Amino acid sequence: MTEKPWRILVTRRLAPPVLERLAQRCEAIVHEGPGPMPRDRLLRELEGKAGVVTVMTERVDEEFLGAAGYGLVVVANFGVGYDNIDVPACSSRGVLVTNTPDVLTEATADIAWVLMMAAARRVGEGERFLRSRSEWVWEPDFMLGQDVYGKVLGIIGFGRIGRAVAKRGRCFGMRLLYYSSTRVPPEVEAELGAEYRELDDLLAEADFVTLHTPLTPKTRHLIDADRLAKMKRTAVLVNASRGPVVDEAALVEALRAGRIFAAGLDVFEREPEVYPGLLELANVVIIPHLGSATVETRTAMGLLAAENLIAALEGRRPPNLVNPEAWGMKRPSS
Ligand code: 8YV
Repeated sequence: MTEKPWRILVTRRLAPPVLERLAQRCEAIVHEGPGPMPRDRLLRELEGKAGVVTVMTERVDEEFLGAAGYGLVVVANFGVGYDNIDVPACSSRGVLVTNTPDVLTEATADIAWVLMMAAARRVGEGERFLRSRSEWVWEPDFMLGQDVYGKVLGIIGFGRIGRAVAKRGRCFGMRLLYYSSTRVPPEVEAELGAEYRELDDLLAEADFVTLHTPLTPKTRHLIDADRLAKMKRTAVLVNASRGPVVDEAALVEALRAGRIFAAGLDVFEREPEVYPGLLELANVVIIPHLGSATVETRTAMGLLAAENLIAALEGRRPPNLVNPEAWGMKRPSS
């Protein structure tokens, strides 16, 4: 066996410690960017690779798997969400899929709070106002927002990130409501001080609604015109999960008509495109998918993706295996 037995593809330039770790065990081709690898080049580069580190902009589908061939052992996604990956297609070929949970929980919960507070207190609007050098006279009713402290926080999706958002809410004296497809055990509810609500009830009661669900066929457009209409006129909606969970056209209509107070968005329906209507509205704070974008978190995500990939190639069960059904499967050879 040679010292570096595996050929792998890394589809983006990750932090130096991550590339160093991968280079210890693998012969890696790294796409330097900027931006994603053009699809035709990606398909060519995949040929003969045993592992690939992907990011959310790479579609891992039949075409991708076909280009890689049956030597592909693992797709290690750099991110907790893996809606970019056709997991059943990977499983049917015995290709392991991994993700990077936990290490980005706190950073992503922080960004939800950044958006919640910025939208409630009109921070983006205030910034733009000063930078436009408009004349400024203080008035008692100038740029009034909504209080955050002591309000009702509604969390949709109560996994790791949703719960981390809830913990922060307690420090803000908030009443915590959550909705999730499966109710969490009573001891978790008690520990966090969170009450379960049906989705429509949560929307009607909450002053702040924050989304932390994965994107699945069931959660696509979970927040549509009807659901937006159930929210309070003073409410703020935050999305740091996946863009398509919200019907953006309906959101623009609701914001334009003042049916809700404001929104804070880290993600968009057709990323990297931003729905033009959003750009014209003052009562929405938009940032370019920064949920996990800190030096520490992105390095930790990369190192975890590397550990998952190396474990799979060494024949060990990766710590963050998404498709256990593929583990130990006899892989097709042609
Ligand atoms: C990443 C994310 O920026 O982990 C996720 O699901 O959305 C972000 O943390 C992205 O996935 C990178 O591929």
